Amino acid sequence: MYHPLFLQTSLLVILMTTNILILNGPNLNLLGTREPEVYGDNTLEDVANMCLEHAKHKGVVVDFQQSNQEGQLVDWIQTARGKYQGVIINAGAYTHTSVAIRDALLSLEVPIIELHISNVFAREEFRHHSYISDIATGVICGCGVKGYVLAMDALIQQ
Ligand code: DQA
Repeated sequence: MYHPLFLQTSLLVILMTTNILILNGPNLNLLGTREPEVYGDNTLEDVANMCLEHAKHKGVVVDFQQSNQEGQLVDWIQTARGKYQGVIINAGAYTHTSVAIRDALLSLEVPIIELHISNVFAREEFRHHSYISDIATGVICGCGVKGYVLAMDALIQQ
């Protein structure tokens, strides 16, 4: 039998926990083997572990997801409503094409960080346009996979 104060404190801790959703779009499952000269040697699992470690250190909870399907990403964004205090999204190529992901992100009322491992502005022109940047709270690009930790810190500070 738990003391009522313990239960009250536990509930408060749960309610006050910062939950961050990290979404990864198409081809990011190939990290580590895909164009390593652009994206580096770390696998997506390495990146997920790095984020989970950092979350533990900072006392926040992170959900880390990847999908190659646009609709799946839209579904995850929709279910993020009211559940997370911030969203980090590396939408991969969908960054440059997806109105559906933009619209889903617009339904959120929490800070959104757009993330790219590579510096998209130093690459092909079609990567210079993003459907997310103007509705995001911030954009991090070109910092390699360390950008994920930087994005987490940016959300935690908010
Ligand atoms: C990327 C950049 C995009 O242009 C590309 O399509 C990706 C990865 C990045 O993390 O640098 O898949 O989002």
